[in-house]
Amino acid sequence: MSLDKRPESMERISTPELAEAFIEEQVKAIRAQVGSSKVLLALSGGVDSSVCAALLIRAIGQNLVAVHVNHGLLRKGEPEQVIEVFRNQMNANLIYVDAVDRFLNKLAGVSDPEQKRKIIGKEFIDVFAEEALKQEGIRFLAQGTIYPDILESADGIKAHHNVGGLPPELDFELVEPVKFLYKDEVRAVGKALGLPDGMVYRQPFPGPGLGVRCVGAITRDRLEAVRESDAILREEFAAAGLQGKVWQYFTVVPDLKSTGIRDNKRTWDWPVILRAVNSVDATSATIEEIPYALLGKITNRILAEVKGVNRVLYDLSPKPVATIEWE
Ligand code: XMP
Repeated sequence: MSLDKRPESMERISTPELAEAFIEEQVKAIRAQVGSSKVLLALSGGVDSSVCAALLIRAIGQNLVAVHVNHGLLRKGEPEQVIEVFRNQMNANLIYVDAVDRFLNKLAGVSDPEQKRKIIGKEFIDVFAEEALKQEGIRFLAQGTIYPDILESADGIKAHHNVGGLPPELDFELVEPVKFLYKDEVRAVGKALGLPDGMVYRQPFPGPGLGVRCVGAITRDRLEAVRESDAILREEFAAAGLQGKVWQYFTVVPDLKSTGIRDNKRTWDWPVILRAVNSVDATSATIEEIPYALLGKITNRILAEVKGVNRVLYDLSPKPVATIEWE
């Protein structure tokens, strides 16, 4: 049997009991693999790395060294949630790295989307490697690889590397406790491990984060407009019961201004574009039919609460021809 093939005998984890059994089995397997060594993990706060972290905390406690890098492109409240859940509630050995200035300085003036992605990816590896080199006695690197990652890289659809590209002196042995799980199973295990619903049922969020939603060269003020408008959209979707029902929803702020009027004065401000799509595997997407009253409420809140914005638009373009993200 290939090391990267899900055993055919493995039952789909669809109940809390099966999730508990999986956790028990993995805790034993992790302990057998790593013994009393320390394990490093890049904890983004996404579903896969969070479930992986919670499993490792259950298995080896303080010997897990979880590193959360705040690259300044996270959504409102995300770094705070990672600290609250993992450091305060689960008593994890969590290293929080505030790398906001470092990332934003490197990204200043860069408008090409692929270049932005490359800078974010490389800087992430550099920051993570620096933290890893500060730690002593680390022999293992845990990754929240899941089964679709393995299948997609086998099919050549995408190169799967969670923290690929680490320098050679950081030649760790991998620990990948959820690598045979499908997304729904990862969520079932996360729930059984006591992670909050907001983390377990989170919508997909790209690695480059809000960086690809602040179209063109990122500026701090426009990034703030993306973050604040995204927070309003998520809050209103949650209040309307759409959280967990709509596949992915977010806001985009293009590098474009138009005329408006506020307090009898002419303004020259950005538009916020709302995007809400449904999809199965992100290769195609349809548009969520948001009720007009909800669109109106979100629009009014964004115009009242977000600085530098004078219009709100709804993107009606399916994938294809558009992509889900704007960059
Ligand atoms: P597109 O925009 O290509 O997005 O229709 C499809 C799905 O992939 C996500 N996405 C990314 N995820 N790194 C990621 O980890 C990226 O660079 C990236 N670009 C897009 C997107 O959010 C959607 O779910």
